[in-house]
Amino acid sequence: MLRTPDAVRDAERWTAHNYHPLPVVISSAEGAWLTDVDGRRYLDCLAGYSALNFGHRHPQLIAAAHDQLDRLTLTSRAFIHDQFAVFCRELAQLCDKDLVLPMNTGAEAVETAIKVARKWGYQVKGVPAGQANIVVAEGNFHGRTTTIVSFSTDPDARDDFGPYTPGFTVVPYGDLDALAAAIDDNTVAVLIEPIQGEQGVVVPPEGYLPGVRRVCTERNVLFLADEIQSGLGRTGETFACAHEGVVPDMYLLGKALGGGIVPVSAVAANADVLGVLKPGQHGSTFGGNPLACAVATEVVRLLATGEFQRRSAELGERLHAGLRELLGRGLVAVRGRGLWAGLDIDPALMTGRQACERLMERGILAKDTHGSTIRLAPPLVITAEEIDHALAQLAAVLTGTS
Ligand SMILES: Cc1ncc(COP(=O)(O)O)c(C=O)c1O
Repeated sequence: MLRTPDAVRDAERWTAHNYHPLPVVISSAEGAWLTDVDGRRYLDCLAGYSALNFGHRHPQLIAAAHDQLDRLTLTSRAFIHDQFAVFCRELAQLCDKDLVLPMNTGAEAVETAIKVARKWGYQVKGVPAGQANIVVAEGNFHGRTTTIVSFSTDPDARDDFGPYTPGFTVVPYGDLDALAAAIDDNTVAVLIEPIQGEQGVVVPPEGYLPGVRRVCTERNVLFLADEIQSGLGRTGETFACAHEGVVPDMYLLGKALGGGIVPVSAVAANADVLGVLKPGQHGSTFGGNPLACAVATEVVRLLATGEFQRRSAELGERLHAGLRELLGRGLVAVRGRGLWAGLDIDPALMTGRQACERLMERGILAKDTHGSTIRLAPPLVITAEEIDHALAQLAAVLTGTS
C-alpha cells in the first residue's frame, strides 16, 4: 500500500483537479473514526457531507448489504424485484407521502423534482407550454448538472458551463417578500434548501419556511424541499422543515439515504404530484436497484426508531454550546441545528482551509467552504466525549496553542 505522500502525488497525477482534498489518504473506518494508510486515526467531523449520518460501516447497514450482495444486485426497472416495494413503502411512510421515486445521486433527485414540477405545471396547473418557471434562492447548492448549475449563484459552479437552462428565478434566501414577488402565474415550484449547507449551514429566519409554505399554497405552487443534506436526522428531526412544522409538497432526499454504502436518492410526494409521470418519461438504470433498496430500507428503519434524531438534537446542543464559547476567541459566527454547524473563523487569523489543515494535524477532519467558513457535520453516532475532544482541538487551533 502506498504511504501518504506517494498516494497524494498519484491522486494529483491521475485525476482531474475538480476537488482540492486535504492531503490525507484514508484506508479504513468504523463509526466516527477514520484510519489513514500510515495508521493515523482521525475523528470524522464531515461525515461525507452528511452521507454518513449513521457512521462508517454501521453493522445493520453492512449486514443488509452483505445479505443482498449474496442474492441479487441489479435488475433494472424493466422488472420488479423483491426489495423495491418494501423500500418505497417504508420511505413513503417515513415522509408521510403517497409515492416515492428512487434515483441515485442527489443531483438526479433535484432533476427529477424539476421535471415533475414542470410536468405538473403544464398538466395540472395549466401553465402554457414552455412557460414554466421555478423560484430558487441565492447561495443555493443543488448539485452539478448543467440545468442545476444554470441557477447557481456561485461563479465557480456556474461560469463557463453555459448555455444555461432557462426557467429559473433567483431571489435572496430568507426573504419571503422577494420570494412572493417573484411568483407569477407560470410559477410551478419554489425549490429551496431548508438550511443552506454548502453556503455555510445558513439557517433562514424563523417564520421563513412556514411563510414559503403559505405562499406556495395560496399561489398553487409546489414547495420542493431539498433535504438532501439537511434531512434524515442531521438537524435533530427527520426533516429540517419539521423544526417549524412545515410539510413541503415534495421531499428531495439523498446522501444519508444510501447509508454511506451506495448512492441512493429519491423524491417523495403525493399522487397528485408524482402521479404525473408516465412510463418512458423519466428513469434511471440503477435507480431503485436491489442493493440500494436493501440498504436504504435499513436506513429508513434506523430513522424510524428516532434514536438518531434524538442524538443529533441532544449532542447538537453540546456542540453548539461549545462552539458559542469560542465566539470572540477565533470564531466570529456560529450557525446551525443539531449536529450540523457552520463556523466563521476570524479571517485575520487564518483561512478555513488553513484551519482544516491544522485540525487534520490534530486528528480532526472537517471541510472549509467559502473562504473562512468551516462546516462540522459529524456522524450522528459520535459521543459526547468525542465532541468535547473535537471542540478542544478546534480551540487549540484557533488560539494557536501547541
Ligand atoms: C442540498 C443538496 N442538494 C443536492 C446535492 C447534490 O447531491 P449529489 O452530490 O449526490 O449529486 C447536494 C450535495 O452536496 C446538496 O447538499
